Amino acid sequence: MTTLKRRSWAEPFKIKMVEPLKMTTKEYRQKALIQAGYNTFLLKSEDVYIDLLTDSGTNAMSEYQWAGMMLGDEAYAGSKNFYHLEEAVQKYYGYKYLVPTHQGRGAENLISQILIKKGDFIPGNMYFTTTRLHQELAGGTFIDVIIDEAHQTEVEHPFKGNIDLQKLDDLIKKVGANKIPYVSVAGTVNMAGGQPISMKNIKQVRELTSKYGIKIIFDATRAIENAYFIKTREDGYQNKAIDEILKEMCSYTDGATMSGKKDLLVNMGGFLALNDYAIFEEARNMVVIYEGLHTYGGLAGRDMEAMARGIEEAVQFDHIRARIGQVEYVGEKLLEFDVPIVRPIGGHAIFLDAKQFFSQIPQIEFPAQTLAAEIYLDSGVRTMERGIVSAGRNKDTGDHYYPKLELVRITFPRRVYTQAHCDVTIESIVETFENRNNIKGLKMIYEPKYLRFFQARFERL
Ligand code: F0G
Repeated sequence: MTTLKRRSWAEPFKIKMVEPLKMTTKEYRQKALIQAGYNTFLLKSEDVYIDLLTDSGTNAMSEYQWAGMMLGDEAYAGSKNFYHLEEAVQKYYGYKYLVPTHQGRGAENLISQILIKKGDFIPGNMYFTTTRLHQELAGGTFIDVIIDEAHQTEVEHPFKGNIDLQKLDDLIKKVGANKIPYVSVAGTVNMAGGQPISMKNIKQVRELTSKYGIKIIFDATRAIENAYFIKTREDGYQNKAIDEILKEMCSYTDGATMSGKKDLLVNMGGFLALNDYAIFEEARNMVVIYEGLHTYGGLAGRDMEAMARGIEEAVQFDHIRARIGQVEYVGEKLLEFDVPIVRPIGGHAIFLDAKQFFSQIPQIEFPAQTLAAEIYLDSGVRTMERGIVSAGRNKDTGDHYYPKLELVRITFPRRVYTQAHCDVTIESIVETFENRNNIKGLKMIYEPKYLRFFQARFERL
């Protein structure tokens, strides 16, 4: 007789509407892959069985959110949904001022243009693609000051998203505080494998930056997932509610850029939130040029309503536990089969370590790109490269960046897939792993100028 080791989490919802999926054969997928230049971003979504490309904008909305969509006030100016969203951001994130944007990068563009001068440096806990590009387009240089453990896939550390205070202090001393407009702090660091930052670390970064009069801009895209890790891993937070933890994190920062397409359970939307009136005033002026009037920022009224309602649902403990529980389920199963993944298991995704997975493929033959292509071919599961292709090229030398992490991200949309979908995914990855020695790398045959991972094309070697 076996005994029960633990009780499972389960989804705090049931399914009301379904979206049929197309089942394809391996021959079909082989053709689709060649047409897509071995780039999973270029596949047609209808050719994908289980879409784990991203958790961005792919969430299932609740009946409460859909009901809110019907209450969209589509006025050009002063929509009541804007005021609802503003109130929700003030209540749950704690910032004073809100500028809605069509998605996260719209907010990144505004804050980068407002705060960064040519020649500035922006330290942060690992880069994110769009965030760094906006910082660079504004004339700045991003400097990675995350702890070293974040670059080591096997090292277990509860808060791999932490900032190395010594690295930050050294940079400030080297370039001078007046060259650092802000520190870019992200919750659950995407490129590090969905790894959280601790409350203690954010607080320490605040203390250090306050000494020099440097601001902190928080990438709050997955801050609620970060709050879950603080609650479950950091001393003193076990009995605090997710929304209390979220608000405390934000309280150590001066503003936030937000992609609502992740934590906030919507398909489109974002915002810039600020405490400083002068910066807000400038952002509110500028948003009109790039996004739309300051009370809609590129969003329909109904989108703002769905996002406001999404905040309320996203901070519920049962929701966030099931969301992260699903990711942990997949990660733990892969570990049982010795598949190399980034540890600890991240918040929104499992990250396969493609360098270890395909130890025979050198980084310049794109092991992670190859792995994402192979998984699709095997089962129709779509994942994403997060390695040398995503890292792009150094803007001064034109050389590839060779990131230490060469990963494939298996990302889970919120409230979308079942445990059986997870099992199919696990089986496909395990089978690809068992067959790993027969697989060759890729060569790049087309490279776009910006954010090349979206549109680059490859051929098999
Ligand atoms: N910050 C982080 C940490 C992100 O993960 C993203 C988007 C953004 C900012 C930009 O937000 O897409 O709304 O403009 N990440 C998506 C992903 C694209 O798949 O991880 P956006």
